[in-house]
Amino acid sequence: MAVLNSRLKVAVFISGRGSNLKALIKNSKLKKSKYKVSLVLSNKSDARGLSFAKKNKIKNYFIEKKLSVFESRALKLIKANKIKVICLAGFMKILSPNFIKKTKIPILNIHPSLLPKLKGLNTHERAIKAKHKFSGCTVHYVNEKLDSGKIIIQKKVKILKSDTTNSLAKKILKLEHKAYTEALEKIF
Ligand code: GRF
Repeated sequence: MAVLNSRLKVAVFISGRGSNLKALIKNSKLKKSKYKVSLVLSNKSDARGLSFAKKNKIKNYFIEKKLSVFESRALKLIKANKIKVICLAGFMKILSPNFIKKTKIPILNIHPSLLPKLKGLNTHERAIKAKHKFSGCTVHYVNEKLDSGKIIIQKKVKILKSDTTNSLAKKILKLEHKAYTEALEKIF
């Protein structure tokens, strides 16, 4: 128990499926893990990821969609729960510069491309259309500019001629699940 208690507390912000959240929770249970997921916040009431949090008895909250309301409640919860790092995992809101400044803790995001290539949405479709040879995922710090903060880890995959948006998304999602934990372990 003493080991678990000394692990750094992480909050994960989600909006949907939550497969990255699931991977983070799974890895946090390994003996060697330096972190534990202590708080899950969603801006969507029906985010599937909320059910993993419940199942794992992790504090979880749906906060209404308006960004200003989300941010002020999130700030209070982060302080009250002594959170040391925030991980955005499929969180579909852009946090305000004010929130980023006020939290005073690192905020990480996972993005499904090899940044700085393909910032924004629909990355797999755009990678295939542009005939890129490789794609992948990036875990980076969040700053005021979208998908532009310092890169912590990238994982790369070859785009095959036979790849579709779906097949590429599947391959990259597998890499994402590894990359997020590795990035967290790396920054601690
Ligand atoms: C992932 O592809 C992530 O890179 C992007 O949104 C997706 C979230 O998937 N930011 P999940 O909710 O973690 O399954």
